[in-house]
Amino acid sequence: MTDFKSWRDIEFVKDKIENPHIYVGEYTYYAGYYNFRTFEDTCVRYLDDEEDNCDNLIIGKFCSIASGVVFNLGGNQRHRKDWVTTYPLYQMFPDDCPENGFAPMGDTVVGNDVWIGSDALIMPGVTIGDGAIIAAKSVVTKNVEPYSIVAGVPAKQTSKRFSDEIIKALLEIKWWDFPIEYIKKLMPFLASNNIELMINKSNELLRELKQIS
Ligand SMILES: CC(C)(COP(=O)(O)OP(=O)(O)OC[C@H]1O[C@@H](n2cnc3c(N)ncnc32)[C@H](O)[C@@H]1OP(=O)(O)O)[C@@H](O)C(=O)NCCC(=O)NCCS
Repeated sequence: MTDFKSWRDIEFVKDKIENPHIYVGEYTYYAGYYNFRTFEDTCVRYLDDEEDNCDNLIIGKFCSIASGVVFNLGGNQRHRKDWVTTYPLYQMFPDDCPENGFAPMGDTVVGNDVWIGSDALIMPGVTIGDGAIIAAKSVVTKNVEPYSIVAGVPAKQTSKRFSDEIIKALLEIKWWDFPIEYIKKLMPFLASNNIELMINKSNELLRELKQIS
Protein backbone atom coordinates (compact mmCIF):
# COMPACT_ATOMS: atom_id res chain seq x y z
CA MET A 1 0.00 0.00 0.00
CA THR A 2 0.90 3.63 -0.09
CA ASP A 3 2.44 6.17 2.21
CA PHE A 4 0.52 9.02 0.56
CA LYS A 5 -1.65 10.64 3.20
CA SER A 6 -2.39 13.81 1.28
CA TRP A 7 -1.85 15.20 -2.19
CA ARG A 8 1.26 16.94 -0.81
CA ASP A 9 2.98 13.61 -0.04
CA ILE A 10 5.52 12.33 -2.50
CA GLU A 11 7.86 9.41 -2.90
CA PHE A 12 11.36 9.75 -4.30
CA VAL A 13 10.94 7.06 -6.91
CA LYS A 14 14.56 5.87 -7.02
CA ASP A 15 14.39 4.76 -3.38
CA LYS A 16 11.37 2.51 -3.98
CA ILE A 17 12.01 0.84 -7.32
CA GLU A 18 12.56 -2.92 -7.28
CA ASN A 19 12.32 -3.95 -10.92
CA PRO A 20 15.76 -3.91 -12.62
CA HIS A 21 14.19 -2.70 -15.88
CA ILE A 22 13.22 0.62 -14.29
CA TYR A 23 15.97 3.21 -13.85
CA VAL A 24 15.16 6.50 -12.14
CA GLY A 25 17.46 9.39 -11.33
CA GLU A 26 17.86 11.23 -8.03
CA TYR A 27 15.19 13.62 -6.79
CA THR A 28 12.57 12.48 -9.30
CA TYR A 29 9.34 12.25 -7.35
CA TYR A 30 5.87 10.81 -7.73
CA ALA A 31 2.92 12.47 -6.00
CA GLY A 32 0.48 9.58 -6.12
CA TYR A 33 -2.19 10.36 -3.54
CA TYR A 34 -5.14 10.24 -5.95
CA ASN A 35 -4.14 6.86 -7.28
CA PHE A 36 -3.36 5.34 -3.90
CA ARG A 37 -0.43 3.09 -4.68
CA THR A 38 3.30 3.50 -5.37
CA PHE A 39 4.90 4.56 -8.65
CA GLU A 40 6.07 1.05 -9.53
CA ASP A 41 2.68 -0.41 -8.69
CA THR A 42 0.44 2.06 -10.51
CA CYS A 43 2.43 4.00 -13.09
CA VAL A 44 4.48 1.26 -14.72
CA ARG A 45 2.21 -1.13 -16.60
CA TYR A 46 2.72 -4.40 -18.47
CA LEU A 47 6.49 -4.52 -17.94
CA ASP A 48 7.11 -7.96 -19.41
CA ASP A 49 10.26 -9.00 -17.58
CA GLU A 50 9.79 -12.65 -18.52
CA GLU A 51 11.08 -11.62 -21.96
CA ASP A 52 14.88 -11.45 -22.45
CA ASN A 53 14.56 -8.43 -24.74
CA CYS A 54 12.08 -6.59 -22.56
CA ASP A 55 11.98 -2.79 -22.85
CA ASN A 56 13.28 -0.58 -20.05
CA LEU A 57 11.88 2.56 -18.47
CA ILE A 58 14.61 5.15 -17.97
CA ILE A 59 13.80 8.41 -16.18
CA GLY A 60 16.25 11.20 -15.41
CA LYS A 61 16.76 13.41 -12.38
CA PHE A 62 14.51 16.10 -10.90
CA CYS A 63 11.36 15.01 -12.73
CA SER A 64 7.89 15.75 -11.29
CA ILE A 65 5.37 12.99 -11.90
CA ALA A 66 1.75 13.71 -11.01
CA SER A 67 -0.84 11.28 -9.75
CA GLY A 68 -2.19 8.84 -12.30
CA VAL A 69 0.61 9.05 -14.87
CA VAL A 70 0.93 5.78 -16.76
CA PHE A 71 3.91 4.41 -18.65
CA ASN A 72 2.66 1.65 -20.93
CA LEU A 73 5.54 -0.76 -21.26
CA GLY A 74 5.73 -4.37 -22.38
CA GLY A 75 6.30 -3.71 -26.07
CA ASN A 76 3.22 -4.88 -27.99
CA GLN A 77 1.90 -6.60 -24.84
CA ARG A 78 1.80 -9.77 -26.95
CA HIS A 79 -1.00 -8.48 -29.20
CA ARG A 80 0.02 -8.78 -32.86
CA LYS A 81 -1.69 -6.53 -35.37
CA ASP A 82 0.04 -8.38 -38.23
CA TRP A 83 -1.35 -11.78 -37.18
CA VAL A 84 -4.81 -13.03 -38.07
CA THR A 85 -5.88 -12.45 -34.47
CA THR A 86 -4.79 -9.87 -31.92
CA TYR A 87 -6.06 -12.20 -29.19
CA PRO A 88 -3.16 -13.36 -26.96
CA LEU A 89 -3.65 -17.06 -27.68
CA TYR A 90 -0.36 -18.08 -26.08
CA GLN A 91 -1.40 -16.54 -22.80
CA MET A 92 -4.62 -18.53 -22.73
CA PHE A 93 -3.48 -21.76 -24.45
CA PRO A 94 0.28 -22.05 -23.92
CA ASP A 95 0.28 -25.78 -24.82
CA ASP A 96 -1.40 -25.20 -28.16
CA CYS A 97 -0.04 -21.89 -29.43
CA PRO A 98 3.64 -22.10 -30.47
CA GLU A 99 4.44 -18.35 -30.39
CA ASN A 100 3.87 -15.84 -27.63
CA GLY A 101 3.85 -12.90 -30.08
CA PHE A 102 5.97 -10.56 -27.97
CA ALA A 103 7.60 -7.68 -29.86
CA PRO A 104 9.59 -4.97 -28.05
CA MET A 105 8.96 -1.29 -28.86
CA GLY A 106 12.23 0.12 -27.52
CA ASP A 107 13.01 1.73 -24.20
CA THR A 108 10.87 4.57 -22.90
CA VAL A 109 13.18 7.41 -21.96
CA VAL A 110 12.34 10.53 -19.96
CA GLY A 111 15.00 13.21 -19.63
CA ASN A 112 15.73 15.41 -16.63
CA ASP A 113 13.56 18.17 -15.13
CA VAL A 114 10.48 16.90 -16.95
CA TRP A 115 7.03 17.70 -15.49
CA ILE A 116 4.38 15.10 -16.35
CA GLY A 117 0.81 16.24 -15.53
CA SER A 118 -1.98 14.18 -13.98
CA ASP A 119 -3.17 11.09 -15.77
CA ALA A 120 -0.87 11.47 -18.77
CA LEU A 121 -0.35 8.23 -20.70
CA ILE A 122 3.10 7.62 -22.16
CA MET A 123 3.11 5.02 -24.92
CA PRO A 124 5.99 2.55 -25.25
CA GLY A 125 9.26 3.50 -26.87
CA VAL A 126 8.98 7.29 -26.76
CA THR A 127 11.69 9.68 -25.66
CA ILE A 128 10.76 12.83 -23.75
CA GLY A 129 13.48 15.47 -23.81
CA ASP A 130 14.94 17.35 -20.84
CA GLY A 131 12.83 20.19 -19.48
CA ALA A 132 9.64 19.17 -21.31
CA ILE A 133 6.13 19.55 -19.89
CA ILE A 134 3.44 16.97 -20.60
CA ALA A 135 -0.03 18.44 -20.05
CA ALA A 136 -2.58 16.64 -17.90
CA LYS A 137 -4.38 13.74 -19.61
CA SER A 138 -2.16 13.87 -22.69
CA VAL A 139 -1.44 10.70 -24.60
CA VAL A 140 2.19 10.82 -25.70
CA THR A 141 2.69 8.69 -28.81
CA LYS A 142 5.79 10.37 -30.31
CA ASN A 143 9.07 11.78 -29.09
CA VAL A 144 8.87 15.11 -27.28
CA GLU A 145 11.50 17.78 -27.89
CA PRO A 146 13.49 19.17 -24.95
CA TYR A 147 11.89 22.20 -23.25
CA SER A 148 8.69 21.88 -25.26
CA ILE A 149 5.12 21.71 -23.93
CA VAL A 150 2.85 19.05 -25.39
CA ALA A 151 -0.85 18.52 -24.82
CA GLY A 152 -3.82 16.53 -26.06
CA VAL A 153 -4.59 13.18 -27.63
CA PRO A 154 -2.32 12.44 -29.35
CA ALA A 155 -0.02 14.95 -27.66
CA LYS A 156 1.13 17.79 -29.93
CA GLN A 157 3.55 20.58 -29.21
CA THR A 158 1.69 23.69 -28.05
CA SER A 159 4.79 25.79 -27.42
CA LYS A 160 8.45 25.83 -26.52
CA ARG A 161 9.36 27.09 -23.08
CA PHE A 162 12.30 29.21 -24.20
CA SER A 163 14.08 30.44 -27.32
CA ASP A 164 16.22 27.92 -29.23
CA GLU A 165 19.35 29.76 -28.05
CA ILE A 166 18.39 29.45 -24.38
CA ILE A 167 17.36 25.81 -24.80
CA LYS A 168 20.75 25.04 -26.36
CA ALA A 169 22.55 26.70 -23.44
CA LEU A 170 20.44 24.84 -20.85
CA LEU A 171 21.07 21.52 -22.58
CA GLU A 172 24.81 22.21 -22.51
CA ILE A 173 24.82 23.21 -18.85
CA LYS A 174 22.77 20.21 -17.61
CA TRP A 175 22.35 21.76 -14.13
CA TRP A 176 20.83 18.50 -12.86
CA ASP A 177 24.21 16.80 -13.15
CA PHE A 178 25.92 19.30 -10.81
CA PRO A 179 26.78 18.07 -7.31
CA ILE A 180 23.90 18.87 -4.97
CA GLU A 181 25.91 21.55 -3.07
CA TYR A 182 26.27 23.41 -6.35
CA ILE A 183 22.62 22.95 -7.22
CA LYS A 184 21.81 24.47 -3.83
CA LYS A 185 23.99 27.48 -4.69
CA LEU A 186 22.08 27.77 -7.97
CA MET A 187 18.62 27.53 -6.44
CA PRO A 188 17.92 31.30 -6.29
CA PHE A 189 18.63 31.38 -10.04
CA LEU A 190 16.84 28.14 -10.92
CA ALA A 191 13.75 29.42 -9.14
CA SER A 192 13.69 32.55 -11.24
CA ASN A 193 12.70 33.59 -14.74
CA ASN A 194 15.98 35.43 -15.21
CA ILE A 195 17.33 32.58 -17.31
CA GLU A 196 20.32 34.46 -18.62
CA LEU A 197 21.51 35.13 -15.08
CA MET A 198 21.04 31.43 -14.26
CA ILE A 199 23.09 30.49 -17.35
CA ASN A 200 25.89 32.89 -16.32
CA LYS A 201 25.94 31.60 -12.73
CA SER A 202 25.95 28.00 -13.94
CA ASN A 203 28.87 28.66 -16.25
CA GLU A 204 30.77 30.26 -13.33
CA LEU A 205 30.11 27.15 -11.23
CA LEU A 206 31.09 24.86 -14.09
CA ARG A 207 34.44 26.67 -14.35
CA GLU A 208 34.89 26.26 -10.59
CA LEU A 209 34.08 22.54 -10.84
CA LYS A 210 36.58 22.06 -13.68
CA GLN A 211 39.33 23.72 -11.61
CA ILE A 212 38.63 21.37 -8.69
CA SER A 213 38.69 18.20 -10.79
C1 LIG B 1 0.32 22.24 -19.93
C2 LIG B 1 0.02 23.23 -18.81
C3 LIG B 1 1.24 23.33 -17.88
C4 LIG B 1 -0.28 24.59 -19.40
O1 LIG B 1 0.78 25.01 -20.23
P1 LIG B 1 0.64 26.42 -20.97
O2 LIG B 1 1.72 26.53 -21.97
O3 LIG B 1 0.54 27.50 -19.94
O4 LIG B 1 -0.72 26.21 -21.74
P2 LIG B 1 -1.89 27.23 -22.02
O5 LIG B 1 -2.83 27.22 -20.86
O6 LIG B 1 -1.32 28.54 -22.49
O7 LIG B 1 -2.60 26.50 -23.23
C5 LIG B 1 -1.95 26.34 -24.50
C6 LIG B 1 -2.86 25.45 -25.34
O8 LIG B 1 -2.80 24.10 -24.80
C7 LIG B 1 -4.12 23.65 -24.47
N1 LIG B 1 -4.01 22.81 -23.29
C8 LIG B 1 -3.50 23.13 -22.07
N2 LIG B 1 -3.56 22.07 -21.27
C9 LIG B 1 -4.11 21.05 -21.96
C10 LIG B 1 -4.43 19.72 -21.67
N3 LIG B 1 -4.18 19.19 -20.49
N4 LIG B 1 -4.95 18.95 -22.64
C11 LIG B 1 -5.20 19.48 -23.87
N5 LIG B 1 -4.93 20.76 -24.21
C12 LIG B 1 -4.39 21.53 -23.27
C13 LIG B 1 -4.91 24.94 -24.23
O9 LIG B 1 -6.28 24.74 -24.39
C14 LIG B 1 -4.32 25.85 -25.28
O10 LIG B 1 -4.88 25.53 -26.53
P3 LIG B 1 -5.12 26.67 -27.67
O11 LIG B 1 -3.73 27.16 -28.04
O12 LIG B 1 -5.79 25.92 -28.77
O13 LIG B 1 -5.95 27.73 -27.03
C15 LIG B 1 -1.23 22.80 -18.00
O14 LIG B 1 -2.38 22.90 -18.84
C16 LIG B 1 -1.15 21.41 -17.42
O15 LIG B 1 -1.65 20.44 -18.00
N6 LIG B 1 -0.52 21.31 -16.26
C17 LIG B 1 -0.41 20.06 -15.52
C18 LIG B 1 -1.25 20.20 -14.26
C19 LIG B 1 -1.21 18.94 -13.45
O16 LIG B 1 -1.46 17.86 -13.95
N7 LIG B 1 -0.87 19.07 -12.20
C20 LIG B 1 -0.77 17.92 -11.31
C21 LIG B 1 -0.07 18.24 -10.04
S1 LIG B 1 1.64 18.57 -10.29
